[in-house]
Amino acid sequence: MPTKLLEDLPGVGPATAEKLREAGFGSVEAIAVASPGELVTAAEVGEATAAKIIAGAREAADVGGFETGDRILERRRLVGKITTGSKNFNELLGGGMETQSIVELYGEFGSGKTQVAHQMAINVQLPTEMGGLHGSVIIIDTENTFRPERIDQMVKGLPPAPDGQERDTADFLKNISVARAFNSNHQILLAEKAMEMAEKAKDSEYPVRLIIVDSVTAHFRAEYVGRGTLANRQQKLNKHLHDLMRFGDLNNALIIVTNQVMSKPDTFFGDPTKPVGGHVLGHTSTFRIYLRKSKGEKRIARLVDSPNLPDGEAVFSVTMEGLKD
Ligand code: GTP
Ligand code: MG
Repeated sequence: MPTKLLEDLPGVGPATAEKLREAGFGSVEAIAVASPGELVTAAEVGEATAAKIIAGAREAADVGGFETGDRILERRRLVGKITTGSKNFNELLGGGMETQSIVELYGEFGSGKTQVAHQMAINVQLPTEMGGLHGSVIIIDTENTFRPERIDQMVKGLPPAPDGQERDTADFLKNISVARAFNSNHQILLAEKAMEMAEKAKDSEYPVRLIIVDSVTAHFRAEYVGRGTLANRQQKLNKHLHDLMRFGDLNNALIIVTNQVMSKPDTFFGDPTKPVGGHVLGHTSTFRIYLRKSKGEKRIARLVDSPNLPDGEAVFSVTMEGLKD
């Protein structure tokens, strides 16, 4: 699918295009769903020009639309499952983490979100008979917590290969593309860039079957502080999550996002661990998993508000060799 350039839109010259990109409007699709007011601020153009740009973008964009039930069923048939490495955790999820869905891992610091992400980056590459999808992974790392050394430990901890072959960590690392995101707009741009990368890898030996954003909310939370900016933050985050969902649909990929939440010991009733993505994340995620620490290496995963699975909990361990029961 050819991506339209911002410069092709009516009223958008190179300077305006640059400003739009810097403000997080990196694609025609993003502009198509923006409000004129947003563009006025982002690109320093007048209301009329903003309206013209949006109208042009709506015409040019592939904003999605209606799809017949049989097409949806056909796409659903392609859904693949990726093992977590823990039988308990897999069972909680109905067999593993599914492609074409967003898994939101939320929990306090040290609860294991990044550890699960590392393990999934490995497991997606495994052959199907081992619970993988023979796919590659893209990681958007906002907190600089990706560690190839940890991948090495986890690869060494995998169950033996069915063909008895020795594994080489370098082969796994080759299929993990990592980019640091320096701020929320950069993060949004990287998600768009990921789309291009996945398109290129589509017919390769290891098509992209997983995208990880760790953490999806940290930059947004740091940058948008104060009441007045909350709506704006949610809107940006919403757009970003929709980009990711689209990525999942188009590439038959799993999306994993992490979200740090803090327990509030001074709250006496209500849920003390509300995810920061709030309602937006709540609606977009197919699987919301609340992680918390237990004794030593033990971690508890709780499935929250799943549309088609019973709520429940699973205990697993984060060991030196990776995720185990
Ligand atoms: P934040 O990103 O700070 O919100 O936390 P997180 O949820 O991503 O936590 P993370 O996944 O980084 O978990 C850190 C915990 O994982 C550590 O406290 C350890 O218990 C465990 N862990 C990390 N590395 C190793 C390792 O090499 N071996 C073992 N056994 N455990 C590890
Ligand atoms: Mg982390």
